[in-house]
Amino acid sequence: MDVLSEARRRRTFAIISHPDAGKTTLTEKFLLYGGALVGAGAVKARDGRRAAASDWMELEQKRGISITSTALQFPYRSTSGTDCVVNLLDTPGHRDFSEDTYRVLAACDAAVMVLDSAKGIEPQTLKLFEVCRERRMPLLTFFNKWDRPGRDTLELLDEVEKLLGLPAVPVTWPVGIAGDFRGVVDRRDGTYTRYLRVARGAQMAPEEIIDPDRAAAEEGKAWDEAQDELALLSEVGADLDTKAFLANESTPAFFGSALTNFGVGKLLDTVVDLVPPPDARVDIDGERRPIDAPFSGFVFKVQANMDKAHRDRIAFIRVCSGRFERGMIVTHGRTGKPFNTKYAASMFGQERETVEEAYPGDVVGLVNATDVRVGDTLFDPNGPPVEYPPIPSFAPEFFMTARVKDTGRFKQFRRGIAQLDEEGVVQVLRDADLGDQAPVLAAVGRLQFEVATYRLEHEFGAATELSQTSYRVARRTDEASEPALRRMRGVAVLRRADGSRLALFESPYWLERVESENPELRLDRLVAEGMAG
Ligand code: G4P
Repeated sequence: MDVLSEARRRRTFAIISHPDAGKTTLTEKFLLYGGALVGAGAVKARDGRRAAASDWMELEQKRGISITSTALQFPYRSTSGTDCVVNLLDTPGHRDFSEDTYRVLAACDAAVMVLDSAKGIEPQTLKLFEVCRERRMPLLTFFNKWDRPGRDTLELLDEVEKLLGLPAVPVTWPVGIAGDFRGVVDRRDGTYTRYLRVARGAQMAPEEIIDPDRAAAEEGKAWDEAQDELALLSEVGADLDTKAFLANESTPAFFGSALTNFGVGKLLDTVVDLVPPPDARVDIDGERRPIDAPFSGFVFKVQANMDKAHRDRIAFIRVCSGRFERGMIVTHGRTGKPFNTKYAASMFGQERETVEEAYPGDVVGLVNATDVRVGDTLFDPNGPPVEYPPIPSFAPEFFMTARVKDTGRFKQFRRGIAQLDEEGVVQVLRDADLGDQAPVLAAVGRLQFEVATYRLEHEFGAATELSQTSYRVARRTDEASEPALRRMRGVAVLRRADGSRLALFESPYWLERVESENPELRLDRLVAEGMAG
């Protein structure tokens, strides 16, 4: 009972966006509205975002795990009375892309997509969206930066529908065009909330609920226009449909400005009202593990602390069933070994705190998780064993050949790349003949290479040289297709550590040609292949 009622209160989601659309700002404002932050501006140093990779890594060293994935937890009660515990999973802060961003989504039950209203859908939004669609994850949309000139509301809705194939259903509607933002009408009950500015949104925006007559008198033309648009929306039947939202078939949309806090409270209220609590997770055999079954969870991220003084490794797990208690001995599914959870931590901003217990939907960081890899399952040995499906690896878009500079350090190099592969820092692809002599490192963002070479040199003592390859796009293939592909020019077939095969092509055009001329070859798309970022 205890586990079920605690699980029911959890809302576990992430905010996704193209860099600069306002993810960090919105995260801060959620904390502000959740009472978890006295004054915004403290979530994390913004420096991390734009810094060059090397500076970024120094920051990372200084702060340990703080810059990348943190899970922020705070209790929240919505105005409609939903009493819950929010787990806001933060996707990595650096503007360059990495697989971590995708993996965080595997641990979420929903996502909030932040769009810059002047820009609409941008390349990284599209890629992240693909992951949400793949997982049929419910998605809410926040049109941000409405305090400054931007695009037309209807045009933005249209773009979401066209590019994502997902109808955006406005829950709130702005009064005043972008740049002259007065407030929002809540389409569910017709109430109009007017906002007042505060300097940089350090406090919650003062709100005033105003009745329609007064609004018409005071807002004038802006009000009349909003009314016309609202009538139009009702006519086309663009109403919130919870079922469609849960199935990732429509996205409830909100207008606001994270910077000035306009619309943030309404968004957070609706997020906790609509985002589903954790549900039974399906294991590798397709069985649903009930929420109240004994403890189980899976690792969605492993982070090696690059601080040499404490070279620990933290595995972040998402609790899927049961109650987690610090100190419990769990079974590490892949090795069958016992794992002591004495050093369990939760992360709040830059703080690492010991966590005593956790419930489905929560995230726990396990320190000293030496053998643990992304995708591994941990479970309570007193209950039935369980294995959750692996987290898919994502379509790499950058491919570099790695060679150790000093061949005397080959052993260290080999150990290093195996380790980085396990942690998922980069994907390591090997030629069947060359093996570890010249593996190809594959990544979804260039930062991953810099992190890899930095760590190979500083952590493993194996300075590494990377050289460009001519490959641009990858497909999953199989043993039967390999010989034919290997004979073609402009194609390579390489293997991952788990034995799976990837075919690399020099251009999307070349891939297309190979596909159309050889329909019998197996060439599967990988997850989240989007526009190049
Ligand atoms: P990100 O995490 O998605 O990369 O974006 P972030 O929140 O850091 O926001 C990027 C920039 O956009 C920041 O400005 C931020 O202040 C601004 N911003 C966020 N929300 C709004 C909004 O609602 N309205 C307006 N006008 N601006 C917004 P910056 O100049 O890059 O940083 P800073 O100097 O303000 O810290």
